[in-house]
Amino acid sequence: MKYDFDEIVQREHTDCFKFDNVKEIFGTEDVIPMWIADMDFKTPPFIVETIRKRLEHEVLGYTFTNSSWKPAIQNWVSRRYGWDVSPEEIGFVGGIVPAISFALQCFTAPGDKVLIQPPVYAPYHNVTKELGRTLVTNPLKLVNGQLEVDFTDFEEKVKGCKLFLLCNPHNPCGRVWSKAELQSMCDICVQNNVLIVSDEIHCDMTFKGFTHTPFATVSEDAKNNSITFMAASKTFNIAGLKSSYHIIQNDGLRRQYNDFLRKNELDSAHLFATAPVATAYNEGDEWLSQMLDYVEANIDYMEDFLKANMPKLDMIRPQASFLVFLDARGLGLPHDELIRFFIREAKVGMNDGATFGEGGSGFMRMNLGCPRSVLKKALGQIKSAYDKICL
Ligand SMILES: Cc1ncc(COP(=O)(O)O)c(C=O)c1O
Repeated sequence: MKYDFDEIVQREHTDCFKFDNVKEIFGTEDVIPMWIADMDFKTPPFIVETIRKRLEHEVLGYTFTNSSWKPAIQNWVSRRYGWDVSPEEIGFVGGIVPAISFALQCFTAPGDKVLIQPPVYAPYHNVTKELGRTLVTNPLKLVNGQLEVDFTDFEEKVKGCKLFLLCNPHNPCGRVWSKAELQSMCDICVQNNVLIVSDEIHCDMTFKGFTHTPFATVSEDAKNNSITFMAASKTFNIAGLKSSYHIIQNDGLRRQYNDFLRKNELDSAHLFATAPVATAYNEGDEWLSQMLDYVEANIDYMEDFLKANMPKLDMIRPQASFLVFLDARGLGLPHDELIRFFIREAKVGMNDGATFGEGGSGFMRMNLGCPRSVLKKALGQIKSAYDKICL
């Protein structure tokens, strides 16, 4: 391997959420932080170099998007997903949660119904509710160790909704939706006049054997009735740069969204938002491929470790990304006690599964974007705590 993912990088005292906010989140400082979704690996050196080079010019004045940014995105989505998009169809937006919030404000009104598929990324719930929209849920169902869409329920619930918020691939369960599943969701939404917002932030981290399908590519209907959000932020560990983008191929929808952003002055990128992303996409294939191999080996390690040592714990094996939904229902603990068990006894700080909504209780989301030694230590601590209550 050219890049070293075993290296322990000290992240404390860098104002980083994952390490410097541990006391606030878990009530104690002695947990291994394996929660919020960034990785503990160094951001790739070629990206850091792009930022460093720009800093050599010591005027950090007003800026516009780097000219290499849109071609790099076009090239990336074409090369990786066979998706041809034109430069006008791409636009900057500073973060995908804000982008979702803007979409809700732009395409729905207070009181309108918004469909989500829990257990799903907590801000989908929070932002929708904060904006006074009505949440409608189509809970995913666990079938043979993977979460699946309940299409009968989907057809029922979508009626009367204005917008469907799709997590593609899905967080926290790492499902890579098949083209057929996406097509079915599309057909049902289109029949019911429901706009689809597809959040594809995790898509570049799809593992071998699975194929990510951008929602908009499944059919003409999908292309004309959706807006897509993508970013290099998770993929290349640059979430702090708050840089993402939308791809909207329907002229009317794009005009409406762009107008909303422009009127609120939300469409301009900051100085470090676009050139580093272009570098990531132009130079990042090898780093990404090695990172994914490393993370997948982490996932294999965890799966084997659970089977051999903690049969009452199970996991939903992700088909994409570095997040594992750990199924701890086998311990038989009430959910509050389960949280206490992982924080106070095992001393591992993970995301509480219940924050993802229906179907999340009894689960924890564990972040495996870390050196193997950290994962081994965490699993060892969980095993010691497990043995105390299970042996
Ligand atoms: C599905 C999903 N969407 C959006 C985000 C966050 O995006 P951003 O940091 O660009 O707001 C995350 C981060 O974990 C995520 O998992």
